[in-house]
Amino acid sequence: MPTPPARKFGLSNLRAARKSGEKVAMLTCYDYSTAGLMQKAGVPALLVGDSAANVVLGYDTTLPVSLPFMIEITAAVRRGAPLCLVMADMPFGSYQGSLDRGVRNVCKMVQRSGCDAVKIEAAASQLPLMRELADAGVAVIAHLGLRPQAVGILGGYRFQGRTADEAGGIVAMSMQMRDAGAAGLLLEAVPPEVSKAVVEAVEIPVIGCGAGPACDGHVFVTHDAIGLSPRSPRFVPQLGDVAGPMVNSFSDYVRRVQTRQYPAAEHCYEMPPAEKAEFLKKVERIISF
Ligand code: KIV
Repeated sequence: MPTPPARKFGLSNLRAARKSGEKVAMLTCYDYSTAGLMQKAGVPALLVGDSAANVVLGYDTTLPVSLPFMIEITAAVRRGAPLCLVMADMPFGSYQGSLDRGVRNVCKMVQRSGCDAVKIEAAASQLPLMRELADAGVAVIAHLGLRPQAVGILGGYRFQGRTADEAGGIVAMSMQMRDAGAAGLLLEAVPPEVSKAVVEAVEIPVIGCGAGPACDGHVFVTHDAIGLSPRSPRFVPQLGDVAGPMVNSFSDYVRRVQTRQYPAAEHCYEMPPAEKAEFLKKVERIISF
């Protein structure tokens, strides 16, 4: 069983893993309590993904989630797992439109949440933002391949790099992002040949999400792996079923309330005996008045 980290896992550790060939496990996380459990389990890196829009808020896409919400939950994950590398997703609309606004919003995320790195979905139009943020010293991860915020133009959540041209475009964009100062890449839903080519083309860490074994680390939506999602993509390992025990606990609670087993004496507060006796006399007088 992996041990909890003795020291903070940071970007330098991710870079060292890239060099040594050690693989890095990353999970998505959206709250303080789960972050604490993940740190305890030895998960070195946590992604506060905008998939929170789906698995926390119940939206069909990641598009509706707001910057204040992402900042709030990233700060909660930071407090729960101070020793983990915490990467925050910049939500749709928070870094597009103007360079100034993008820089301002990324700085807000970094200052208010305490995250170690931010992630933006990569497009040619984001290269100036990447350069500006790298110059400012922000660790930015460029998300390529399947970009859920681009679902409109992609026309659905299909794996990317299906044709030689498309695959070549992902490799070329990875290199441009690296040249613009990206601290790392996240490659989602691409065939293993594509991720292998990207890993060979750049020297920065490459995290895969359904991108095959060549990547330096791996991530997926935690809910999909522990039985909390109704269905999950094929690349997600089934790590357990927490939904079953949760449903059992909740229905046991309903039964205890209905059968009056709850609350029992051990769940009640106790008044000092003298106060209780006086109160009972007093309440009798009040009621009979
Ligand atoms: O939002 C998210 O959880 C992600 C991962 C699926 C990579 O971006």
